[in-house]
Order: sequence, then structure tokens, then C-alpha cells
Amino acid sequence: MSVPKYITLAGGDKMPRLGFGTWQASESEVEDAVTAALEAGYRHIDTAAAYENEKAIGRALNRWIGNDPDRRKELFVVTKLPPSGNSVKHVEEFFAASLANLGLEYLDLYLIHTPFGFEYVPGDLHPKNPDGSMKFDFTTDLMAVWKELIKIKESGRVRHIGVSNMNEEQINRFTKLYKPECLQIEINVTCQQTSLVAEAKRLGIPVVAYSPLGSRAMAQVLAAKTGREYPNLLELPEVKSIATAHSRSSAQILLRYLLQCGVAAIPKSTSPKRIKENISVWDLELSDSEMAALRALDRGDDGRICDFSFFPGVEKHPEFPFKRH
Ligand SMILES: NC(=O)c1ccc[n+]([C@@H]2O[C@H](COP(=O)([O-])OP(=O)(O)OC[C@H]3O[C@@H](n4cnc5c(N)ncnc54)[C@H](OP(=O)(O)O)[C@@H]3O)[C@@H](O)[C@H]2O)c1
Repeated sequence: MSVPKYITLAGGDKMPRLGFGTWQASESEVEDAVTAALEAGYRHIDTAAAYENEKAIGRALNRWIGNDPDRRKELFVVTKLPPSGNSVKHVEEFFAASLANLGLEYLDLYLIHTPFGFEYVPGDLHPKNPDGSMKFDFTTDLMAVWKELIKIKESGRVRHIGVSNMNEEQINRFTKLYKPECLQIEINVTCQQTSLVAEAKRLGIPVVAYSPLGSRAMAQVLAAKTGREYPNLLELPEVKSIATAHSRSSAQILLRYLLQCGVAAIPKSTSPKRIKENISVWDLELSDSEMAALRALDRGDDGRICDFSFFPGVEKHPEFPFKRH
């Protein structure tokens, strides 16, 4: 099965189907990682104001672009409005800061990062109460925030706008006003989100899979906090046996699976070797029976890793997108 290397977005722009993730890559390591990713052939780079690494990414991007406007056109740069910006008053400020941090004149895609909002506290993207819980803004008006993103798109400073971590009801609500041009959600073999992906497909919204490898570093942090067990997707016997059959790595099998499912994926790595490995999946093909074996690993809601439990109290927010346990 051949997989196109791009997904065509509204208006005809092409988003590279395999992108590069940068969450939990610190300022000091991400600059080299993005440079290695560009050298390896990635052109879709994903970041977020909340990752606090946009400036270093901007340095790597601008060094690579140099004075060549065609190089900028080849790139697909994505960043996100942080939860503290989920209010009409603050969208423009956060968007302008991201653009300045990245040192770009325009972005390719700007996403609302989460449906829930935090209180706006200058200089603090993760404001906490004295008891350690997050300072949520329980009055988040997502449609009002969406209208602000639409205005920014109309201003020409971003080519596409979209949403992340939204559920089916939320994407339908957005669509009534203006169809999101991309939906970025967790998708991997244990959290396949088939119903949400089918709904996005029905609505004609391209889907990007985050944490495609199972976000091992985050899973370990969450396991220590919650006592929950998170499977290591790279070590699942079904994944390993398919990897052995193709003389490939588990990561390559996990990524190729998602591409053959029709979504885009944005694996993160700061290791030059793994950065190259993760983009070397175009000459690999999984059979129907291998696809079926991987499809069977889905654990539905129980397979979700990024459930935002690292933000204590998040389930109480009226826009919390996942099933409440
Ligand atoms: N919208 C959202 O709310 C949201 C949430 C989560 C993630 N994201 C985006 O999606 C990106 C990817 O998700 P993620 O970072 O959560 O997790 P991920 O890409 O599933 O996994 C990253 C982890 O896998 C390791 N890794 C990478 N390639 C590997 C390979 N070939 N073999 C073995 N281990 C490998 C990385 O370690 P090394 O770095 O040491 O290689 C890192 O610990 C993020 O970076 C971010 O850009 C978005």
C-alpha cells in the first residue's frame, strides 16, 4: 500500500505526513535536534508555546532557511495557543509571542492546544494554587477563542488554524462556526481513537497523531505519579515480532502503522540516530494481517497516555474532553 507523503489541506497546501515533535525537548537540546531533523528530511515541525522551546527552534529554522524564501515555503511550522491563552483577551498576545519567538513572518498551522483554560498569570504558563492544583479558568468560551483564531487567519499571519485534544462534540461545535483545518490528538496502537478519527474523516478534517510511539518519557513520569501502568509500545510482543519480520525497529512499525491508517504522525526524538530511523519508513509496507494484528492492540480509553492527569483537577473543567473516570 503506497502512502502519500503529504496531506492536502484546505486551500491546497500540503502538510508533510511525517513531522517532528519537540515536547520535552529542552531549549538546550532542541536546537540541535531540529537541525538534525531538517538534515534528515523532516519539513513539518511541531511545537507549542507551552513547551517553552520556541526560541531555540526558531534559531534552528532560521539558520536552515538563511536568505532563501523557497526554503521557508518548504517548511510546515506548527505551534499552539497555550491553555493560559484560551480567552478572547489573550489570543493575539500569545500568537504574536510565538511568531516572534520562532522568528517567522507567518506560521503554517496554529492550534488551540487544549479545550480547557488556565487563568492568565503573566510569565507563568502553568499557574498553580498553593495546594499544587492548577489555576483553571472554568469559564473558557471555546467558540469565542476560535473566532480570534479565525481573525488571525484572515490577517494572513497563519495559513491554517486547527484544534488539539478535542472530542467529537467539540469538533462538531467548531465546525458549525468554521471547520478546523487540522485535528491533533493522541493516537498510537493502544489508543487508536477510531470513533474520533472516523468523525474527523466524515467532517473532512485531517488528523495528526501525537505520541505515536507511546511517549515513553511522559508515561514514566505519569506512572510514578499515578501508580497506573503504561505499556511500553516499543516492547509489545506483537510489535516486536512484526519488526523482526521486516528487519526494522519497533518505532518504525508503530509509525508505518499510523501512516497506513491514513493519519499524519509527529514522533519526537533528540537522538540523531532515532531521528533518522523514524523518518525511514517510506520503503516499508505492512501486510493486511500485520495491520489487523496492530489494530487489535487498541485499548480504547484505557490506552490513553496523555490524559492530562499531570494537571490536577482537570476533570472538573467543563470542557475536559475525555471520559471522566
Ligand atoms: N497536542 C498535544 O497536546 C500534544 C501532546 C503530546 C505530544 N504532542 C506532540 O507530539 C510529539 C510526539 O509525542 P511525544 O513526544 O509525546 O511522544 P512520542 O513521539 O510518542 O515518543 C517520544 C519518546 O520516544 C523516544 N523515541 C523516539 N524515537 C525512538 C525510537 N526510534 N526508538 C526508541 N525510542 C524512541 C524519545 O526518546 P529520545 O528523544 O531519547 O529519542 C521519547 O522518549 C510531541 O513531541 C509534541 O510535539 C502534542
